[in-house]
Amino acid sequence: MKIKLTIAALFATVVASAQISTMKDKVAKENFEFANQQLRHAFVEIDAAHKAKNTTPEKFPTPRNVEPDGSLRMMYPSDWCSGFFAGVLWYMYEETQDNFWKQEAQKYTDYLKSEQYNTNTHDLGFMMYCSFGNGLRLAEIPGYKDILIQSSRSLITRYNPKTGLIRSWDPFNGWKYPVIIDNMMNLEMLFWATKATGDSTFYNIAVSHADKTLANHFRDDYSSYHVVDYDVDGDGQPRMKQTHQGYADDSAWARGQAWGLYGFTMCYRETGDKKYLDLAENIAKFILTNKNLPKDLIPYWDYDAPNIPNEPRDVSAAAVTASALYELSTMSKNKGSYYKKMADKITENISKYYRAPLKGARGFITTCSTGHWPNKSEINTSINYADYYYIEALVRRERLAEHKPVVPPVKF
Ligand code: GLY
Repeated sequence: MKIKLTIAALFATVVASAQISTMKDKVAKENFEFANQQLRHAFVEIDAAHKAKNTTPEKFPTPRNVEPDGSLRMMYPSDWCSGFFAGVLWYMYEETQDNFWKQEAQKYTDYLKSEQYNTNTHDLGFMMYCSFGNGLRLAEIPGYKDILIQSSRSLITRYNPKTGLIRSWDPFNGWKYPVIIDNMMNLEMLFWATKATGDSTFYNIAVSHADKTLANHFRDDYSSYHVVDYDVDGDGQPRMKQTHQGYADDSAWARGQAWGLYGFTMCYRETGDKKYLDLAENIAKFILTNKNLPKDLIPYWDYDAPNIPNEPRDVSAAAVTASALYELSTMSKNKGSYYKKMADKITENISKYYRAPLKGARGFITTCSTGHWPNKSEINTSINYADYYYIEALVRRERLAEHKPVVPPVKF
């Protein structure tokens, strides 16, 4: 009798935890059901955009954002945002295991092959790792590994040992060797490249870049500058600390803070070096305790924007933050459940308040992101990287609910 009761109690616990796990997945599942319909509509919008502008998918494969006139802006393969749409399609394949998504993901990934030789941009990590990286991980497509290795080789041509960093942009705006906080995101592909080739050069460059960024990009309150320019012709040290997409040189551009959080969380995963974890936790503190962070945790485009609360939000910053917090929640000694709770709140609020209407917003999943406020471009609109990191955050949320590693192992 006693044994029966114990078994019954055990069974009840298992059933209860399965129910909790299903409940935890509800937000992710509902959003994937929405994305399943919305992305099919995106294909209709893409075809219509090509017809309207007489362009081809080969030349303009990537839906990037909704323009102020409501039209869909398609971009060419060398655009820094070219890998995000393919990445979303790979996540759809991961979620559904439906070959329809695999075929579409591969199609939109293959359009980007030429970029493996592109040495004009530091954004190859975004472009190639979100597309080919996910493709290799999920479908082991022949050729993708070599494309990623070549992409990593192209990326490190922008490294100069004198500065110890990868140059983000070529000289302009009075800058000689500008490095932006966003560049932390491109290091993930380099960590992968060392695992894939056994050549530690990629790893060492990634670590050097992260160390210099840690030393030079951060202020006492752990907010970061957007741009640090280095004296590459002189002593290799910082010569200017400024902004490009933020409100002011000394302000905290919202997406920049999110790139830093995600980048240093990823660097801790790849190296085990605790200084990266400490920095990530300090950035999380800056973001989550900021007096200008709205209650729904979707930041204004800059934490110091002058007219808060009458400023556009940036859902992309919130999505990147949520995805990073899910990973950080598995690493933090004391604050794991707090980070997870904050990430859950962000994903739930995006779902409730910032999701695109079904068959609206030209097939994008989210709305209300701000791309480049000083340039007056992509303000309060749908942008593909917000969708990518939102979907990634939902995948991570679901993986945690299912007690799987938050970031799946890579393939090489
Ligand atoms: N990497 C450019 C941006 O975040 O807008």
